[in-house]
This record gives sequence, C-alpha cells and structure tokens, in this order.
Amino acid sequence: MPSAELTAAIERLAATARARVFCLDFEGRRYWVKRQGQPRLRSSLLMQRILALVFGLDALKPARSGRLADEAAALRHLHAGGWPVPEVITATPNRLVLGDGGSGIENLLNAEPDAARRRALIEACADLLLRLHAAGEWHGGAQIRNFSWRDGAPGLLDLEDHDLPGMNLAERQARDCLLLLYSLTRYDKNPAVPLLAPLAQRLVQGASPAVRAEIARLHRRLGAPIRLARPFAHKAGRDVRQALAAEAALGAALAQ
Ligand SMILES: Nc1ncnc2c1ncn2[C@@H]1O[C@H](COP(=O)(O)OP(=O)(O)O)[C@@H](O)[C@H]1O
Ligand SMILES: [Mg+2]
Repeated sequence: MPSAELTAAIERLAATARARVFCLDFEGRRYWVKRQGQPRLRSSLLMQRILALVFGLDALKPARSGRLADEAAALRHLHAGGWPVPEVITATPNRLVLGDGGSGIENLLNAEPDAARRRALIEACADLLLRLHAAGEWHGGAQIRNFSWRDGAPGLLDLEDHDLPGMNLAERQARDCLLLLYSLTRYDKNPAVPLLAPLAQRLVQGASPAVRAEIARLHRRLGAPIRLARPFAHKAGRDVRQALAAEAALGAALAQ
C-alpha cells in the first residue's frame, strides 16, 4: 500500500494533470499513474483498420471498462514470473499506480543518431518478446512504443491490451510479432543499416512452428489489401508505404 503522503501527492497531481498517464517523483522513487480513459491512438488509422479487419481486433478499439484492472492482473502475473514489467503499487478500476519501468524506448530511439545502435536496441526488444513467447506468455500490445529500457535491458510497458478474448496463444503471439514489426517502419530510414528485413527474419525464425504458421496465415490475409495499394504507393501517404515495406519484409522472411 502506498503511504497516505504518496496518495495525497497523486491526488493533487491528478486534479491538474492533463495527460491520462503521468509520473511523479516521491521520496526518491518514480511512480507512474495511469487513469481510465481513451488510450492515445497513435498508430496510423490505416493500420488500425487493416489490423481490425484482419483480426477482428477489439483490442485496438478505445478503452473498455475494467481494462485497467485487466492490466494490473497481467502486470502482477508477469512480474511474479520475473519478467521486466513495472511493479503494481495500487490498482483501482479507474487508476493504476505503477513503479518505474525505465525510459520509454522511443525516447532513446529518437535521441540515438546511430542507426546500428538503434537497431541493436530494437533487436533487444524483439528478443525479449521472443523469450516471453517461448515461455508461453504474450504482450498484447507489442508495438515498439510499449517497450522500455532500464539498466541496460529492455522492459515491457502497457499491458492494457493484454486480454485478447477469443484468441488462442499462437494468435496472440503472432499478433505481437506483427504489431512490433509494423511499428518499426519509421525507424527503417538508413538503407546502409536495414532494419525491417532482419527484424522480420528474427521474429519469424524465433517463433514456434504454430506461431510461424499463424504469422504466415495473417500475412496472406494482410497481404491482399496491402498489395492492392502497391500501384498507388508513390502517391499514397507514408502509412501505406510503410505498410508495404513491412509486408515485403515479412514475405521475404517467411519465404526463407
Ligand atoms: N511504469 C512505467 N514506467 C516507465 N514509463 C511509463 C510507465 N507507465 C507509462 N509510462 C510512459 O507513459 C507512456 C504511456 O503509458 P502507456 O501505459 O503506454 O499508456 P497508453 O499507451 O495507453 O497511453 C508509455 O509509453 C511510457 O513512455
Ligand atoms: Mg502505450
């Protein structure tokens, strides 16, 4: 239980904070407060539509009631299993207080000018995801923005989409892999240090046979609408070009 002083400090900040998620430093420790509400939908609308089409993805829709409680349960479960996720300090239906999981990985990626070092950070996140999968677990929202970096190692953040009702383990893990890959396209900007192709290969080769088969199935389904866009790619927006790049990387990795 947090002390009455910490609770009071959180209440004071919550009254004025505009962001749904905010942090506060208290007695030498950093805490994160996450409130119930609409999650930021930063991934492209196109990708959301395609993923929703392919997966029937409730998980990409705005917050459902009780999701913070789901997230707390998932965080506690993974924390108990020794996975690098933030500690749950308190959880109520409309507020989660978490320990610090480190820096959001995208802050590091955006501050890192060296493409090879960016790729190494991303590979470490992919490897953490693969280890998680090998242990029979999954993330549920494995876009790169939901990884952190602490003490020289990656961590997992934002388990809000962890509950994926109606999906089996292979489907959940395949979805993780695709969400990670599609979230990386904007970091693949230095042709001398390719990112998507080796990452797709790493994810496909690291996947279990069942997950690999599921990735292939999703790729076939995703591929059709994405390939329809190919002739218009030069006119289309960045989202479409990025989706095409990820689709091509995945296709090459699956063909090996
Ligand atoms: N426990 C935590 N430790 C470190 N950073 C956090 C923590 N919780 C949230 N953050 C930061 O706040 C951002 C938003 O939190 P997140 O849980 O991803 O919510 P959402 O994406 O639904 O807004 C994260 O991307 C991360 O940068
Ligand atoms: Mg998030």
